[in-house]
Amino acid sequence: MKAIILSGGKGTRLRPLTYTGAKQLVPVANKPILWYGIESIVAAGITEIGIIISPETGGEVKAKTGNGDRFGARITYIMQDKPLGLAHAVKVAQPFLGDSPFVMYLGDNLVESQLDMFLSKFQSQQLDALTLLCEVENPTAFGVAKVDAQGRVLQLIEKPKNPPSNLALVGVYLFSAEIHQAIANIQPSARGELEITDAIQYLIDRQQNVQSFQLKGWWLDTGKKDDLLAANQIILDSCSQLTIEGEIDATSKVSGRVHIGSGSRIINSTIRGPVTIGNNCTIKNCFIGPYSSIADDTTLVDADIEHSVILQGAKVVGIQQRIVDSLIGARATLQVAPQRPKAMRFMIGDDSHIEII
Ligand code: G1P
Repeated sequence: MKAIILSGGKGTRLRPLTYTGAKQLVPVANKPILWYGIESIVAAGITEIGIIISPETGGEVKAKTGNGDRFGARITYIMQDKPLGLAHAVKVAQPFLGDSPFVMYLGDNLVESQLDMFLSKFQSQQLDALTLLCEVENPTAFGVAKVDAQGRVLQLIEKPKNPPSNLALVGVYLFSAEIHQAIANIQPSARGELEITDAIQYLIDRQQNVQSFQLKGWWLDTGKKDDLLAANQIILDSCSQLTIEGEIDATSKVSGRVHIGSGSRIINSTIRGPVTIGNNCTIKNCFIGPYSSIADDTTLVDADIEHSVILQGAKVVGIQQRIVDSLIGARATLQVAPQRPKAMRFMIGDDSHIEII
């Protein structure tokens, strides 16, 4: 059994953050989204992993993630020159996959880890494809499945106008080598992509064994800000514990599940977990409230932050109002003068959102 993780794409819905980086590397609880996928694949006992990368962000994905040693896996990077669809990504990965059955995992998806059960159903029933499904409120935004009472997949439609059900295709699939033959026989869709849904439909039309597995836990497609904040909240809830490596001065108060990385200094501040703070941060005269993730090298002074994600090297100084539900990009600066400010001066990146509420 092998795995491929798709980590290309342009991340248009997370702009401006993704102008300078891969969406799969945006952190959730200070860890790149992509790494959660790698960890859950390794936890299911699969260690041969191919990561599909794009020319735009592939270098960064590779540099950050490495050869797999840190995960106990062997990672091969596979270049997909153009974003021509999920089935096209499988096609470029074919030399790596050979005849092996494999998991395909979309690198911007976060799934509560159930890969084991998924995998054993696939193996014990000798399936050609197993799709992971989840009930959603907005099925038109996803690939949607029609299944029978036994979970056999009857039809799949990509982003349907009139969805046949509310069961969306989660970005995790299991395939036998049969899928390559299907992909070789499909044509690009109206949006010019080789759709994996069309390849699976090809298998269904030939009476091959395509089953579904309905996910009961949470699933997040982290393409947008609110999804990312929701993912951050779920992950902080599920895994944080009290680990203090940095320094906390006598006038500060830390309560709940909080991680403070090495070299970070907490001065005259209150931190109320779950919160994770990276390495080498300076936090002075602040309140950091629940569900905040503060990345490495961040400076926060005279600020009040809750339910927010602050990326590496950002600086927030002198903001009296509470910052909530926010995503602040790497190296961004947000600063208000100590005396009553008389004017506002901005240099805001394209596609940024500022809401004074
Ligand atoms: C892709 C798949 C879709 C699936 C979704 C899950 O859509 O084409 O079937 O439901 O991932 O995240 P995309 O995110 O590329 O629009």
